[in-house]
Amino acid sequence: MSKLLYPRSLFFISFFFILISGFAQTYAKNGMVVSDNEVASQVGVAVLKKGGNAIDAAIATAFALAVTHPQAGNIGGGGFIVYMNASGATTTIDFREKAPLAATSDMFLDENGKLIMGSNHKGLKSVGVPGTVAGLYMAHEKYGVLPWKELVQPSVDLAKNGMILTFTLATHARRSQEGASAFLKEYFKNPNGKLVDFGEVWKQPALAKTLEQIRDKGKDGFYKGKVASEIHKFMKANGGIITRKDLKEYTAVERAPMKGTYKEFEIYSMPPPSSGGVALIEMMNIMELANLDSIQFNSTAYVHLVAETMRRAFADRAEHMGDPDFNPEMPIEKLTSKEFAQKRYSNIDLERASVSDSTKFGQLYDGANTTHLSVIDKNGSAVSLTYTLEYSYGSQLGSPKLGFIFNNEMGDFNPQPGYTDRDWLIGTDPNIIKPGKRMLSSMTPTIVAREGKPYLVIGSPGGRTIINTVFQTVLNVLEYEMPIHKAIEAMKIHHQWLPDRLIFETHLMSPDTQKALEEMGHTLYGRSNLGRLMGILNSTEQGVFIGASDSSSPDGAAVGY
Ligand code: GLY
Repeated sequence: MSKLLYPRSLFFISFFFILISGFAQTYAKNGMVVSDNEVASQVGVAVLKKGGNAIDAAIATAFALAVTHPQAGNIGGGGFIVYMNASGATTTIDFREKAPLAATSDMFLDENGKLIMGSNHKGLKSVGVPGTVAGLYMAHEKYGVLPWKELVQPSVDLAKNGMILTFTLATHARRSQEGASAFLKEYFKNPNGKLVDFGEVWKQPALAKTLEQIRDKGKDGFYKGKVASEIHKFMKANGGIITRKDLKEYTAVERAPMKGTYKEFEIYSMPPPSSGGVALIEMMNIMELANLDSIQFNSTAYVHLVAETMRRAFADRAEHMGDPDFNPEMPIEKLTSKEFAQKRYSNIDLERASVSDSTKFGQLYDGANTTHLSVIDKNGSAVSLTYTLEYSYGSQLGSPKLGFIFNNEMGDFNPQPGYTDRDWLIGTDPNIIKPGKRMLSSMTPTIVAREGKPYLVIGSPGGRTIINTVFQTVLNVLEYEMPIHKAIEAMKIHHQWLPDRLIFETHLMSPDTQKALEEMGHTLYGRSNLGRLMGILNSTEQGVFIGASDSSSPDGAAVGY
């Protein structure tokens, strides 16, 4: 792909050949990419057009997002892929970050054994060993068809030749000058030292060089050699604990997907170390038992039932979930069984909110920064990929020589062993920090199959809200047969057991419903938005792929051809 093509000519080409949509639905016959950034979606579609499969396009899109959507797109973080080929064979790739080998379970505690508030999300000790490059490389080695270099090159071009700064990124750039880390203050400046503004070209030469190493040397371009040495040096000089050995020993893992069913549909999602797949399947099983025909969508009764379902799944998540390599006894089969759903469903009082028991477990809501992309290729093979830096711009730290941002994913571990309160701290054992362990995630990249073939490809950012926004979107499509964009835009709620509150999208729930829910015993908490879903529906009856990017994603787009 010619480096001169980026990015302006891609916009030009798109007018003629590529179907793009922001908020409505996009229809395409041959393939589609939906992501949080239009240019990145176009990069993925260009890969599909030159014969790449869904895995190739997802890899190229993910690398492009590391340039064009740096608040969450990354090479310094980690994530998950769920992949289903056109004949229905399904697998997942786990490239979640790991705790460094020098990490300890008390590394964020003071001398009294109490969490130093915020320390697990701040500074270089909050950085997990990045997994993204290893995961994308494994996906390519096992399932890609185009040469690796052709998948990384578009992101090199975007970083080297520059991209047009969007309004959203320009806002972040301006804000970075007030109170951000020293690294982030320089991040949005061009090599001439000038802060980039909306509509101007932003170049990232240091990132381009790092990406060139990855392009030329594959996984080793990040985990060994120059880049690894600089990460090691930077960490050592600035109080971090990730070493060359951590990087050399990092491996992605291929895992069998979580599988569940809802009526005639099969649901495939991410197994632990994500809690997403287990919770999603548990909740879908519970909803299958409810008589939804007799409950109006988004009525008081509906919101109550969904919230109580969420409360139970999140209690189970808090109690049982962690890295499977350190928790071989997790009761996954039980939690995702139809019998267990019956037990959970049977103790929901349809008239009254339950009370979350703070003497046992708790769980934190957070607005973590993550991004999701969905891809389908001309054969109907599908990729659902979610990856993250944890917070927006992760730790806000990075080496200026490398040009990428480190995650602050260590904050996803339970920071204070054995201590759980009713606000947000949770101290259960499965997710306590151990060297080389992966922190528990809520990312829920999901593919629903119908008659054994990919039907719905979906996922979202949003910390723990991910599980619930994906759950409601899947339910909206499978149960209520909503068009994909409606399913994405419909009101979402969130309950995560503890803190015991029902979060709702402020402008989408009527005051009457709010009052009625409060009378049932719910504590309500309004937020302007939940979820930023990126979805594709494979409508075999109509012979088209239908995609939609959540209207809450300012730069997102479904692009098809
Ligand atoms: N960092 C968000 C998650 O993995 O759930």
